[in-house]
Amino acid sequence: MAGNRWLRDRLPKLWFARRAVRRFMPGEDVESALKAAEAFKADGIATMFTRLGENVSQASEADAVAEHYFGVIDTIAARGLDGEISVKPTQLGFDFDPDRTLVHLERLAERAAAAGGGTVWIDMESSAYTEQTVALYERLRPGHANTGLCIQAYLRRTAADLQRLLPLDPSIRLVKGAYAETAHVAYQSRHDVDANFVALAVSMLEAVRSGRTVRIGLGTHDVGLIEQISAHATALGLEKTAIEVEMLYGIRSGEQRRLAREGYLVRDLIAYGEAWYPWYMRRLAERPANVIFALRQLLP
Ligand code: FDA
Repeated sequence: MAGNRWLRDRLPKLWFARRAVRRFMPGEDVESALKAAEAFKADGIATMFTRLGENVSQASEADAVAEHYFGVIDTIAARGLDGEISVKPTQLGFDFDPDRTLVHLERLAERAAAAGGGTVWIDMESSAYTEQTVALYERLRPGHANTGLCIQAYLRRTAADLQRLLPLDPSIRLVKGAYAETAHVAYQSRHDVDANFVALAVSMLEAVRSGRTVRIGLGTHDVGLIEQISAHATALGLEKTAIEVEMLYGIRSGEQRRLAREGYLVRDLIAYGEAWYPWYMRRLAERPANVIFALRQLLP
């Protein structure tokens, strides 16, 4: 459904869908996201901002997205928030001009560095983009230390990608993966995905233990996995802060606060923007109970 054009054009106009999506985003405008970030700050939780949208088809649209994020970076700094941005390559023209995407990312990283050094994160999209996105980061990272890349534990190739990335002393956000992928490219069972998630996280912890600088973000709401990986970090003699827990706005909020109180670094990814349809469909797919929640919004 995330890729269905007919639904994408119609569903977001329905009032109950707009009401249901509020569970996962504080509002469509950036100001709502910034206000939510101020509340998180009071709870010791840092934030990350993403303006929803993907697969733009015109250079002018990609340029406008970059321009928008320049403003967000400046506002984050002006308001004293510990906030970073996370961007989809196809939102910056990756489908038709990857060199332009690279230039946009370089400029965003330079702007973020000038504003105080927050990281510019690159989201990982479907497997059709994985090779190109890893290669993009290999070009970006050497000159721009404040950049990070998302990698997906469900992909069979990710262990090899990680070995390729570690020599760059990267910033990595490890997630399970949100797109429908075939068995040829991705592990299909929860058990296999979780096992690979732990193995990848432990590889990064061991790299840190052996002297590499790797910023390790665990982008998951799976608290059991987080605690298991944290125990590995402790066994390796690393601090709790060797990992950063990253969760989405509206999901497991109580656990986000609990983990922050217990001394974990916690960062909440706040999405905003009008183009929420495919992103919201992926959130529903992750947990069938969310579909029931969405349908309940039909009730008064
Ligand atoms: P899992 O699906 O096993 O869920 C663990 C538990 O968390 C569930 O039992 C449930 O309680 C809760 N939960 C999970 N999802 C929920 C939901 N939608 N609603 C309510 N409860 C839910 N993916 C990608 O392909 N590219 C990317 O760039 C990113 N970026 C990204 C950034 C950050 C900060 C996060 C947290 C996630 C992503 N993702 C992503 C999404 C990721 O791949 C994955 O789809 C989701 O995080 C859901 O999987 P979990 O790891 O939470 O585990």
